[in-house]
Amino acid sequence: MTNTGIASIGLHLPTLAMRVDELATLRGADPDKYTIGLGCREIALCGDGEDVVSLAVEAAKRALSRWDGDLQDIGMIAVGTETAKDMSRPLSAWVAGELGISGQVRSYEVKHACYGGTLALRQAVEWRLSGAARGKAALVIAADVALYAPRDPGEPTQGAGAVALIVGEPTVARVDPVSYAWSEPAFDFWRPVGQAFPSVEGPLSLDCYMRAAESCFGAFAEEHGGLEAALNDLESVCFHVPFPKMVKKAVRHVAERSGWDAEKAAEFYEQKVDPTMRWNRVSGNAYTASLWISVASALAGRPIGKRIGAFSYGSGFGAELLLLDAGPEAATGAWAADVDVDLSARQLIDSSAYNELRA
Ligand code: CAA
Repeated sequence: MTNTGIASIGLHLPTLAMRVDELATLRGADPDKYTIGLGCREIALCGDGEDVVSLAVEAAKRALSRWDGDLQDIGMIAVGTETAKDMSRPLSAWVAGELGISGQVRSYEVKHACYGGTLALRQAVEWRLSGAARGKAALVIAADVALYAPRDPGEPTQGAGAVALIVGEPTVARVDPVSYAWSEPAFDFWRPVGQAFPSVEGPLSLDCYMRAAESCFGAFAEEHGGLEAALNDLESVCFHVPFPKMVKKAVRHVAERSGWDAEKAAEFYEQKVDPTMRWNRVSGNAYTASLWISVASALAGRPIGKRIGAFSYGSGFGAELLLLDAGPEAATGAWAADVDVDLSARQLIDSSAYNELRA
């Protein structure tokens, strides 16, 4: 059986957000640095009563509500996150408690910085392909609240959000069993036990991301007759989006390594990559959820059989390039309504409200 994948998608963004040009004014920075230099627009923020659990639960409820199975058909719940609530108890236990999932279910949390959600998805896919699932589906959630210390250079790249994926029949997308992984131990971005906000080696993190992209796309290209032939097969290519400019830099880097000129790389980026980040520009970096927000956007409205790429990166570092083929339900893109509902209800806050929130 090689036919497994995503049967339903649910997304959730929190109720508050702030424009990055407002943040720039607060920090005495040039707004163009955040909007043009980093490519950011708005950062999603949690309001009262919201946290990584409430985001994950709401995304899961939305995915379950448009799936034709029920809770008894779930045999695994795996949550990828770096917003740990506890060093022992997995986030999946909070989510399963809220959803009423228990019994013959494997329930766990996956941690590998922003790569954790992708690892959870791969494990679910491989669990189904192995036969161990015995026809059961998996509920995979990528959820994070990304906050940096006030005035940290990462502050304009903050964000939050959750994506829930039901892994079962590939009605929304088939996930190719073959993927291209790469890892190298590095201290580019990490958060020691007990430390509230991450430590970041900014320039190193950019280098690691680009090296990871070069390695994953390089392996993919090698098996498919070169980069051009490999990418021609893809209708869209989604990336982990710490901030949109990072993705642009990575595309340019991968293209340059294959001998493409700047014009060709820019054309590829404009056509196949930039449009996938429309929701990331209003969520900010949602860590594990970031890539899957982009994938959800790229799949919505996609005709059956069309193939997309999904490049996952997690500091530390680990990366993987996945391939997905749109299924019959991708064309309806029902999950786009989740983002519309959240964006129309959310409140844009100003600097003084942001200061209060951070205090
Ligand atoms: N107008 C237009 N552009 C301007 C500008 C202005 N007035 N002032 C500066 N810029 C440009 C700069 O030229 C630069 O662009 P280029 O890189 O294309 O030259 C860009 O704005 C950013 O400027 P700086 O490099 O000076 O910014 P910084 O050092 O203050 O912060 C950062 C950048 C280090 C990436 C910081 O945002 C950060 O620490 N982010 C968190 C780490 C991160 O996201 N790393 C990405 C890879 S790791 C990963 O992907 C995991 C993850 O999710 C965290």
